[in-house]
Amino acid sequence: KKNYNIALLPGDGIGPEVISVAKNVLNLAGSIEGIEFKFNEKLVGGAALDAVGVPLPEDTLTAVKQSDAILFGAIGGDATDTNQRHADIGIALLQLREGLKVFANLRPVSVLPQLVDASTLKKEVIEGVDLMVIRELTGGIYFGKPKGFGTNENGEEIGFNTEVYAAYEIDRIARIAFETARKRRGKLCSVDKANVLEASMLWRKRVMAIAEEYPDVELSHMYVDNAAMQLVRNPKQFDTIVTNNIFGDILSDQASMLTGSLGMLPSASLSESGPGLFEPIHGSAPDIAGQDKANPLATILSAAMLLKYGLGEVKAAERIELAVLDTLNRGFRTGDIWSAGNLLLNKLEITHEPNQYIHMQKLVG
Ligand code: NAD
Ligand code: IPM
Ligand code: MN
Repeated sequence: KKNYNIALLPGDGIGPEVISVAKNVLNLAGSIEGIEFKFNEKLVGGAALDAVGVPLPEDTLTAVKQSDAILFGAIGGDATDTNQRHADIGIALLQLREGLKVFANLRPVSVLPQLVDASTLKKEVIEGVDLMVIRELTGGIYFGKPKGFGTNENGEEIGFNTEVYAAYEIDRIARIAFETARKRRGKLCSVDKANVLEASMLWRKRVMAIAEEYPDVELSHMYVDNAAMQLVRNPKQFDTIVTNNIFGDILSDQASMLTGSLGMLPSASLSESGPGLFEPIHGSAPDIAGQDKANPLATILSAAMLLKYGLGEVKAAERIELAVLDTLNRGFRTGDIWSAGNLLLNKLEITHEPNQYIHMQKLVG
């Protein structure tokens, strides 16, 4: 029997709700495939700040580095938090990514046939969309120095950050992107702002240089403002997208609406060696936390990515992906992906019952 150590970081808001569902789904898929998981649950975010005074305790960072893979929920508080507290919590996630050196963030966007009516966009625009956003995750404006607060020459308060990329950071994410595109439909679109930003000019130059190693991949370039527009105008033109840290953050939330909800998108954050970090792309959703309304599918699908990309357990991963489809086929929906007209009232009622994972449990088998 195979054994894996999984670090579980539930975090704040809906984080613990979606993690508990995903943990059960992992256990069930594992039991069928002869895989045993040892879960090591650790504090992070506001939960850690409240309990031990820091948002990323030493003990958590040590545990995640010793694990085989990490499943992360979400962190962050609501608007009643003071600014500094809020910033400290967000920075914990950046420190976690930096500590794990997970520079490559894969955010797949698949429009499921069961959910074409859940999107705000027209059916003919989104039907069949299947794209991958590859986001650089440990560089750019999130990490660049100088950063901070100060005063300008007029004595006025300023806040500043720096967008900076080194060639090696671009090269390694570009290689991941070309490799990914090669295994998909062979098309890569690099998104930047090379008309005005030096960091983007270097980005484009390096992506073009790396492209010579991948003559079989069709490379195109797009400015980020146009890309934001093209993503809603005709998303089917995209196969693989590679972009920097902040553009990838924004474009992936936007792309999530093609699928019907932010609550659908999983992600995998990978390093050169060492454990991967797997998390839904959404946040702690304080507006719905504690009400059993959160869509757990982004986290369940992140657990599937954990199996596939983190542990190489492809069969168990596919079991979970199929269970998600079966669950949707049976009409189970959370509110965010519910659309009037294609559901019976009793199914809607079932949807709002607690313990949605029970349905998943029946279906994984
Ligand atoms: P959010 O992603 O938490 O929520 C945005 C909207 O989407 C909300 O209306 C929310 O209810 C909805 N939503 C998100 N996930 C959902 C799900 N699984 N099911 C149903 N609906 C869902 O973003 P926000 O409101 O801008 O930020 C809230 C907090 O989360 C902030 O503190 C922010 O810093 C933090 N945040 C954390 C992460 C992370 O941990 N990776 C990501 C984004 C935001
Ligand atoms: C995400 C989040 C984070 C980011 C925040 C919470 C730091 O929005 O994972 O997409 O900007 O990377
Ligand atoms: Mn984000």
